Amino acid sequence: MSVYKIHGGIPLQGEVSVSGSKNAVLGILAAAMLLDGACILENVPDIADVQAMLEICETLGAIITPLGGGTYKIDPTNISTHEATHAKVKNIRASYYLLGALLSRFKKATMHMPGGCNFGTRPIDLHLKGFSKLGARGTDISDLRDGTIRIVADKLRGAHIFLDVVSVGATINIMLAATRADGLTTIENAAKEPHIVDVANFLNSMGANIKGAGTDTIRIKGVPVLPGGYSYSIIPDQIEAGTYMIAAAMTRGDVTVKNLIPKHMEPLTAKLMEMGFDIFEGDDSIRVTIEECRPIEPVNFKTMPYPGFPTDLQPQATALLCLAKGMSRMHENVWDNRFQYISELQTMGANISVIGRVALVSGPSFLHGANVVAMDLRAGAAMVLAGLVATGETIISSAYRIDRGYEHIVEKLTAMGAQIERVEEDASSCQRPLVEV
Ligand code: UD1
Repeated sequence: MSVYKIHGGIPLQGEVSVSGSKNAVLGILAAAMLLDGACILENVPDIADVQAMLEICETLGAIITPLGGGTYKIDPTNISTHEATHAKVKNIRASYYLLGALLSRFKKATMHMPGGCNFGTRPIDLHLKGFSKLGARGTDISDLRDGTIRIVADKLRGAHIFLDVVSVGATINIMLAATRADGLTTIENAAKEPHIVDVANFLNSMGANIKGAGTDTIRIKGVPVLPGGYSYSIIPDQIEAGTYMIAAAMTRGDVTVKNLIPKHMEPLTAKLMEMGFDIFEGDDSIRVTIEECRPIEPVNFKTMPYPGFPTDLQPQATALLCLAKGMSRMHENVWDNRFQYISELQTMGANISVIGRVALVSGPSFLHGANVVAMDLRAGAAMVLAGLVATGETIISSAYRIDRGYEHIVEKLTAMGAQIERVEEDASSCQRPLVEV
């Protein structure tokens, strides 16, 4: 079992470059399974979730050729099965995109229920309702006998679909299923996250006809053939970029986060400015710093679908609020149980109480090193951030959860001056129980 060991207290300095977006590439890999020919994907991050998805795609029959430097040739021509039942399907959330992709390709799909971070109920009813509007029938989600979803359609026909909850996953999955359906599909109340636009752009560049991605109405005109044959570069990861911006802020450092899209960062930059940080935007970079001795102002956050403040930056932002002078509120509006990591921050000296979906953070707290657990991917990132400012040593167990979404995090932080190392430890030597999700 790997742990991260951090000695905190060093202001981060310098530059850090953001990797390709985890959530975009996972959707795009599933989308690549729809193509009639090969494509080249660039800026693919080397993270555990991507490796799992590549392995799952290979078991379907796709030929994946790494070309070096985060570039892969993906050739789905020989995919011969509609069954995504590899054990790793259960490890990652985004495997659910294979349902839409395989349904589109074979008019049938069989898949284990997806896994991923555990922060409350994570239904996929909207995905299945969307498929059924397109003409598919199958598993009643309330009766998953063996945890396997089976769907089938004689024909997929375009339809008008209204999502009663704004869902990233359902929007992309329905888009995938509709790409080769007969006629026009309209998704109303669609999610608008940057990676939805990226999946649509990828499909369009390979021959699809999708309009309106990034707005709340997406129109997909089904096409019979998706030739592929082109290269596509994945957008930068909004959440990784935000995590490093918060790292700069928490350590009162001076860091330029490069290779990001400033527009995607607006929900965070607005809040950092409100807290007293200095933000300098370039074309594809943001520098974060703060005047010496300036106190960090308390603020209130509410997580919302894009362009609101992303729930995937909620734990990291809560860690930052611990350093603000006064009372701040963090309202988690997307997931019903995403405060499990608060107990870990409390172990490090944070003063936080949770009432329902609101965390009340009183600061400033002087965080101290402790043995803590990465309860999930972004919770783990919050522990790293807290460790960077804590006095003494912080040991974060279940580090594999952080590896799911952060490429070379140790190397990137070390290059900015942090004292962080990854250590292989015997599970029995961990002083806190490991929570499996
Ligand atoms: C995606 C992200 C995840 C992020 C989340 C919200 C990926 C792989 N994961 O997850 O990191 O936290 O968006 O930005 O991209 N809902 C339903 N029925 C459904 C689907 C969702 O009620 O069928 C509800 C959920 O319970 C939740 C809300 O919709 O309250 C948003 O979920 P959704 O946007 O679907 O999240 P994911 O796509 O799973």
